[in-house]
Amino acid sequence: MAYPRIASLKTHDQFISRLAELGLELPSDENVKQGDASPLAQPIQLKHDVVGNRFCILPMEGWDGTTDGKPSELTRRRWKNFGISGAKLIWGGEAVAVRHDGRANPNQLIMTESNLASIESLRHDLVAAHEERFGNSDDLLVGLQLTHSGRFARPNEKARAEPLIAQRNPGLDPRFGITDDSKLLSDDDLKRLIEDFIAAAVRSQRAGYRFVDVKHCHGYLGHELLGGHDRAGEFGGSFENRTRFLRDIVAGIRSEAPQLEIGVRVSIFDFVPYKPGDDRVGIPEPDANPRLMFGGDGSGAGMDLNDPSRLMSLFESLGIELVCSTAGSPYYNPHIQRPAYFPPSDGYQPPEDPLVGVVRQIQATAKIKQMHPNLTIVGSGYTYLQDWLPNVAQAVVRTGMADSIGLGRMVLSYPDLPADVIDGNVMTRKKVCRTFSDCTTAPRNGIVSGCYPLDPFYKAMPERKQLADLKSNG
Ligand SMILES: Cc1cc2nc3c(=O)[nH]c(=O)nc-3n(C[C@H](O)[C@H](O)[C@H](O)COP(=O)(O)O)c2cc1C
Ligand code: SF4
Repeated sequence: MAYPRIASLKTHDQFISRLAELGLELPSDENVKQGDASPLAQPIQLKHDVVGNRFCILPMEGWDGTTDGKPSELTRRRWKNFGISGAKLIWGGEAVAVRHDGRANPNQLIMTESNLASIESLRHDLVAAHEERFGNSDDLLVGLQLTHSGRFARPNEKARAEPLIAQRNPGLDPRFGITDDSKLLSDDDLKRLIEDFIAAAVRSQRAGYRFVDVKHCHGYLGHELLGGHDRAGEFGGSFENRTRFLRDIVAGIRSEAPQLEIGVRVSIFDFVPYKPGDDRVGIPEPDANPRLMFGGDGSGAGMDLNDPSRLMSLFESLGIELVCSTAGSPYYNPHIQRPAYFPPSDGYQPPEDPLVGVVRQIQATAKIKQMHPNLTIVGSGYTYLQDWLPNVAQAVVRTGMADSIGLGRMVLSYPDLPADVIDGNVMTRKKVCRTFSDCTTAPRNGIVSGCYPLDPFYKAMPERKQLADLKSNG
């Protein structure tokens, strides 16, 4: 594998030439504007709210809450960094479980009654940090991402998977030791879970969050249900059944918390699970069933946006205006979800230049936006663009391919990149995320997540050495 590193593309022309070499179509503005002239500084007018600019912080958890699901000092530090970023849309902060068995790890936050006050104070910390740096928070919109991790649940021990699944899946079941139907959630289980989502949404509103994201991405339960073609009963098979979980949660929130806005983060396409081939380069799992991948074209490695577009029409009919588009899953096909030069330690070498993965997400999002211009759509997967992220971000927003640019890993290494871009400051190169994937490798090995290579705070932590040893042994 020898893809040119982005850091080696020193001029905008070189970046454009590399895109052309790969046959990729991606707009990029040579000159990034600043201040009021910047397309990225323009507000978004929603039905009931204004979002001050076109940068959004994507949800990112740190595997660092307390065992009873409250934020720790590390969690607070990350959220304060989100606050000082300059982005005016905070998409969910991080995945917060609606109940214990839905936690992706034993340190994930849980939106219980007893945790309400501390999750409220987390939002408060973020808003206070934003106000301190930018003067006010009138045009800052903060939501909370609500989740059940389903197949990827590990509520009690970091090393023990306790999956609860929507359907059997031959490409994934062996990875979890699933050999029978005992892990399948029944329709009654799902109905109880719907009530838990609604209760967590009501608490989120009481905690001052302006919207909740009813998470439907990355292979977690909501997403698995969208692809639940093989599930029997009320929640599987037809499009109507596969979206029943979402529709019932939305109906419940509308009735119990009518003032609360609702957003949905969706993997708008998916490929089959990948695994390392003989040379460690990723290959599609041969036993997978491509029919189960929501937004897949049946080949296992291609997209068909018809079903996702139907989902967007459903959102419109339900009065949902906020959508965050993402793709695939960080567990079973990370190269389409978070393109990286250096894969996480449990992954596979990228089967394509990571730029291909970036452009796939941006173009798919643009198609969805074109088909559903009334939705406010946040895009994801931009971090691999590195030094050229602002150029592409500006062009994407300027040409209406997305309404807002979501930032994930980049804000872990470079928290105030949005402010720097809008203020016209030269980017600080040493803070640019180079997609080392330590923030993914660490939690896969039971270590809190953070940017160990570039963030001085994490650089100084003893876990950095632990991670380095682990990588050199692996
Ligand atoms: C450490 C880490 C934690 C993440 N946690 C979440 C999460 O809690 N919820 C979620 O929807 N996505 C999560 N993601 C995915 C990001 O939101 C984003 O989709 C992904 O990193 C791709 O965007 P990027 O290229 O800007 O990094 C996480 C990503 C990372 C690196
Ligand atoms: S550890 Fe830091 S540099 Fe590496 S991918 Fe994560 S944010 Fe980027």
